[in-house]
Amino acid sequence: MIYLNEKNREFHLQNKNASYIFYVMENGQLGQLYYGKKIKHRDDFSHFFKKPKYGVGIIAHTKENPAFSLEYYKQEYPSYGTTDFRKPAIKLLQKNGSRISNFTYDSHTIIEGKPKLIGLPSSYVEENSEAMTLEIKLVDKTINCNLYLSYTTFGEREVFTRNARLENNGQEEIIIENLMSLSIDFPDYDYEMLHLSGAWGREKHIKERILEKGVQYIDSTRGASSAQQNPFMAIKRKDTTENQGEVYGFSLVYSGNFIAQAEVDHFDVTRITMGINPFDFSWTLNTGDSFQSPEAIMVYSQEGLNGMSHSFHSLLRERVARGFWRDRERPVLINNWEATYFDFNEDKLVAIAKEASTLGFELFVLDDGWFGERNGDNSSLGDWLVNRKKLPNGLEGLAKKIQEENMKLGLWFEPEMISENSELFRKNPHWVLGVDNRTLSLGRNQYILDLTKEEVRAYIVEELSKRLKEGNISYVKWDMNRNMTEIPSKETAHKYILGLYEILERITSQFPEVLFESCASGGGRFDLGMLYYMPQTWASDNTDAIDRLKIQYGTSLVYPTISMGAHVSDIPNHQTARSTSLDIRNHVAYFGNFGYELDITKYADETKEEMKNFVSFYKENRKLLQFGNFIRLQSPFKSNYCSWMTVSKDKSEAIVGYYEILGDTNSEYNKKIKLSGLEENTLYLVNNEYEAYGDELMNMGIVFDQPDRYYSYEAKSRDFTSKIFKIKKVVRF
Ligand code: DGJ
Repeated sequence: MIYLNEKNREFHLQNKNASYIFYVMENGQLGQLYYGKKIKHRDDFSHFFKKPKYGVGIIAHTKENPAFSLEYYKQEYPSYGTTDFRKPAIKLLQKNGSRISNFTYDSHTIIEGKPKLIGLPSSYVEENSEAMTLEIKLVDKTINCNLYLSYTTFGEREVFTRNARLENNGQEEIIIENLMSLSIDFPDYDYEMLHLSGAWGREKHIKERILEKGVQYIDSTRGASSAQQNPFMAIKRKDTTENQGEVYGFSLVYSGNFIAQAEVDHFDVTRITMGINPFDFSWTLNTGDSFQSPEAIMVYSQEGLNGMSHSFHSLLRERVARGFWRDRERPVLINNWEATYFDFNEDKLVAIAKEASTLGFELFVLDDGWFGERNGDNSSLGDWLVNRKKLPNGLEGLAKKIQEENMKLGLWFEPEMISENSELFRKNPHWVLGVDNRTLSLGRNQYILDLTKEEVRAYIVEELSKRLKEGNISYVKWDMNRNMTEIPSKETAHKYILGLYEILERITSQFPEVLFESCASGGGRFDLGMLYYMPQTWASDNTDAIDRLKIQYGTSLVYPTISMGAHVSDIPNHQTARSTSLDIRNHVAYFGNFGYELDITKYADETKEEMKNFVSFYKENRKLLQFGNFIRLQSPFKSNYCSWMTVSKDKSEAIVGYYEILGDTNSEYNKKIKLSGLEENTLYLVNNEYEAYGDELMNMGIVFDQPDRYYSYEAKSRDFTSKIFKIKKVVRF
């Protein structure tokens, strides 16, 4: 709902659980009044705003109004250059060198539904009745620029979205140095900042820090959203837990350089800003042109981090991800990367597929190494022609054989990259992103194609389209394995991302039934922008079950399990050299988009039978695991244990995963996990063993003995144990 109080010029947006109120301040700019738990609408909120007392050292906005200083006001979209000394949401460099702007309220429109963002991914609606959008037009008359701030409330969802668009109607060009997607001033700073940090193989670890006076931020300068910091940030009260307490989550629908920042000022006000990273960014806006910021998604929850995650999960699953696969159960895949690396031929691939098919796999994914002279990672990116030495019958021939095994064929590409040792580089060296008088840095022996060039984008679309048709390809793994260096201009990094989005729009609409999975050496570009085009992302190259507990737990703060690729791989694990049981490897991968990544042909029949059972359990419960509500129970960041569960929407069934990292000698004899999200008065059957009511399972918990291997002298290790519990509503006839 969107309300407008004409007299005080107040705007009140409501969604299912939150209110967001701002108003036009006496200088015509926008002030922030409230963001938090939903409150009833009234036709006057002005009593919540007390004029600040004249402080010593105040710098008055104008001499006519000596008591008005922006420094003393909570603002909605602060600008640079006058009486606010905090970080601005907008900074524009003008021909005369001025960076000052003054955007004041001009008018507003309320739109049913949600307009598309031109050239950028965003959340969307299917029916206009799902959402309402408020667009505020602000004008800076001195430079003749319009600023449009758009706010969408989804009514039935616990989210708001925001974006900003600047339009230059003046006579002179304007250089945008900063244009944030959102800025909010909160009245206090009694919060912890929470974010997802990491590195290759260690993505999305949860980090928390107490907010302090001054600026604290996370960002990316790598040309991709990055494994180092995810474009997400939350502020939560210090006593907020997984299931209770206040938290505000902010996520950016963008795949490039971003910033998410909390600035606490001398009056204890916390200013949150989020948007394209102003570091090494600027954009020339010519007369008549406009610039669109990415969309920011805001979630408020009083039900702890799980409450916040639910709102993100359902929005991302239902109104950010799109297309044919959005609501469809995803196939169980087997990928040949860790099975063969570059060393394979058609016979080997078909042998894996044959075996996999009998075990119940549905999709065979051919990873890196099928094209050009690619026998290692030092050549051929860009030459998307099949290597006939490895695949004498081409993609068509391979596809035919894979289909004969009753499986679909998926294919790996790294379309944004080029190897120096490639035909493409020899022909078009100027297609590489770089600066003429500087040596190019090499990452994994490769350079980046300059996606700001139309001819490069056309080449990628054309080559990929041909291969997808030739091989009747059902799935694409879209990889990207190095970050940007030698960036030619301050516009390049953003233009590149716009170019990438254009390619993805073209390819995905040309092949609507192909399932796309995004990847960037694992989770190096796992963000909402990519999710809009590709409904799943390879969460990490690290497939070790123990490391995956943290990676998947952290990722689940924002991203639904259906979006996270999770594979069972060989032991010792190729990334950590750790050996864990087949049980725990499956039990962890179940809570992701499940697949295998190992040479299935080398296992004993007995093991293959076990694998078959794991695959069939996943398929039987796939709908629940992919589309249910995922709830975190015990954090591997805080203890030796991890547990989580997925509950069906109607709460009639659930699957719980419990993991004990190191064996705990002579510990608790009755282990327990307190469940969540069930119906209190419903009787459930636990693992076909006993019946218990929802309230018992949620308060007393599931009580169980140590995992089975625990007391066995034969057990090689008592570490890394796990259990799965299946909970089902009892129906008596
Ligand atoms: C990095 C990816 O994350 C891996 O899964 C694999 O596809 C390799 N690239 C292939 O080069």
